[in-house]
Amino acid sequence: MCGIVGYTGFQDAYSVVINGLRRLEYRGYDSAGIVLDGQGAFSMAKTKGKVDDLVAVSEEMKGKATVGMGHTRWATHGVPSDRNSHPHLSNNGKIALVHNGIIENYDTIKIMLTEKGFTFQSETDTEVLVNLIQYFMDLNPETDFPSAVRYALNEVYGAYAITVMHDDFPGLLVVGRLGSPLAIGLGENEFFIASDASPFVEFTKEAIYLEEGHMATISMEHGVDIRSIADNARIEPAIQELKFSLEQIEKGGYEHFMLKEIFEQPKSVHDTMRGRLLVDTGIIKMAGIFDHLERFNNAGRIIIIACGTSWHAGLIGEYLIEEFARINVEVEYASEFRYRNPIISEKDVVIAISQSGETADTMAALKLAKERGAFIYGICNVVDSSIARITDAGSYTHAGPEIGVASTKAFTAQLTVLSMIALKLGKHNGTLGNAEFMSLISELDALPNKIEETLENTHEIVKEISKDFVNSQNFLYLGRGYNYPSALEGALKLKEISYIHAEGYPAAEMKHGPIALIDENMPIVIIAPKKGHYDKIVSNVQEIKARKGKVIAVVNKGDVQVSSMSDYVIEIPETSECFSPIIAALPLQLLAYYIAVYRGANVDQPRNLAKSVTVE
Ligand code: G6P
Repeated sequence: MCGIVGYTGFQDAYSVVINGLRRLEYRGYDSAGIVLDGQGAFSMAKTKGKVDDLVAVSEEMKGKATVGMGHTRWATHGVPSDRNSHPHLSNNGKIALVHNGIIENYDTIKIMLTEKGFTFQSETDTEVLVNLIQYFMDLNPETDFPSAVRYALNEVYGAYAITVMHDDFPGLLVVGRLGSPLAIGLGENEFFIASDASPFVEFTKEAIYLEEGHMATISMEHGVDIRSIADNARIEPAIQELKFSLEQIEKGGYEHFMLKEIFEQPKSVHDTMRGRLLVDTGIIKMAGIFDHLERFNNAGRIIIIACGTSWHAGLIGEYLIEEFARINVEVEYASEFRYRNPIISEKDVVIAISQSGETADTMAALKLAKERGAFIYGICNVVDSSIARITDAGSYTHAGPEIGVASTKAFTAQLTVLSMIALKLGKHNGTLGNAEFMSLISELDALPNKIEETLENTHEIVKEISKDFVNSQNFLYLGRGYNYPSALEGALKLKEISYIHAEGYPAAEMKHGPIALIDENMPIVIIAPKKGHYDKIVSNVQEIKARKGKVIAVVNKGDVQVSSMSDYVIEIPETSECFSPIIAALPLQLLAYYIAVYRGANVDQPRNLAKSVTVE
């Protein structure tokens, strides 16, 4: 979603901000803007479109200032347009503001400000906030700039991360946060502000993640001064060390981040298990779970909440935990859970799964569960993200930064963590015998090699197959058991990046509707590994072929029955049924990727989608 970059220091602010905005492009956006500290007046440019479009209209701003900020906007209030792009200026032209989030009571404030004579150029909620700051400064000329920002923030509700500059206070940046993330990078004689640390990781490894309800004033003279928005109480900054490098967030020779991330999976799954899965001694060592084993085993039930791809991982988590630990699991869309007055007891354990750790619905659902006394556990990829910080305990996925909007390596890392949790719980409570446990963990340990083998052996085949489906308008994905969620995820990948309509179904449900769609133009991806209701899948394929559907089968090496009936065959190595979604995900990711590439789609930044959905 929206991205914010700010800078004050000695470098050319234009270059730092523009390069920073490029690093945030993965979040998804439809317009961009920049403002620099000027002598007596801001210099500003903003436009609908991408950062390249912004550069085209602003290049003469280069080299002219050492303080500035920029923004990539993902439209909520008002269409993507030059006018609605950020920064927004106050009526007197002295205050500039960029904002990520939604000001929910903007309309009542707008009415109040309009009555006082303020006018508005855009349809945004943001323009209301910047004028509210001016209003407080006009009301009492003694009011200093940071205080006016604080007064204004106390009047609004909703979600925001903001950065504000005032023309009369050159070199000063004021930031605030409620519900949307904001990080401050601490360099030598320079400060950076950004929605996440990727825009400044090349300059510094030290950062402060602004907490909920906090604001900060940042200047070369006084450093970083953090206050509570509610009562102005001073807050000691907690400085964190950044643990990722610039190389990790660059494309490394791949055409797209998505392809790079697909091919990183042998390593990311390995990293997720590193130091946790000790095969020789038969131990799964996960601090987050280990310290709370009794809490999990005594739970009335486990509720998994998530959105998108993470929700699909949650469904597989349900199968894993119920099979091995015999604990009742429910999986909910965070957006439904939070608004349906769910029954939550203090005995419940709620697991939130989130790559970004910032998804607004997941965050709100977690808060609700926490208020009602449940134990809350996080499975996040982004270290120190908002969700990671509010949970009682958790396990990071350690997949490394995921930039492509369509989630790939984070998904398989989530499945790896869920597998370890299920096996650990099962072993501890005695529902999983030692021999089976030992055999499963050695299979888990073998996954990085099998992932590597799968990518090597399926890449070219899938690339070729993809060419035949560039003009398809619909796709069906079918699977059973553990691979029913794989079908959902395969379909989601395809629709996200290729804009082809795709649906995932449990294969047996085909008879209850989707079968009506099948004809010679309907491609159907069948996930049919040997272990897992194979015979039933054989019947499903027969039913499809009887209606002339085009079958693309994902089968184990050496498969005969399904392969002989299928139009296209993709062979993957065998593994335990419960881990097969990790392997099956790989050719499905590649299939979506190549179909999208051949259709000329913007794979890393698909239209209308955002990587980190920080509004509900
Ligand atoms: C967005 C992303 C998806 C992601 C979902 C949940 O829709 O585009 O890839 O699965 O949000 O995000 P989270 O960060 O909570 O896993």
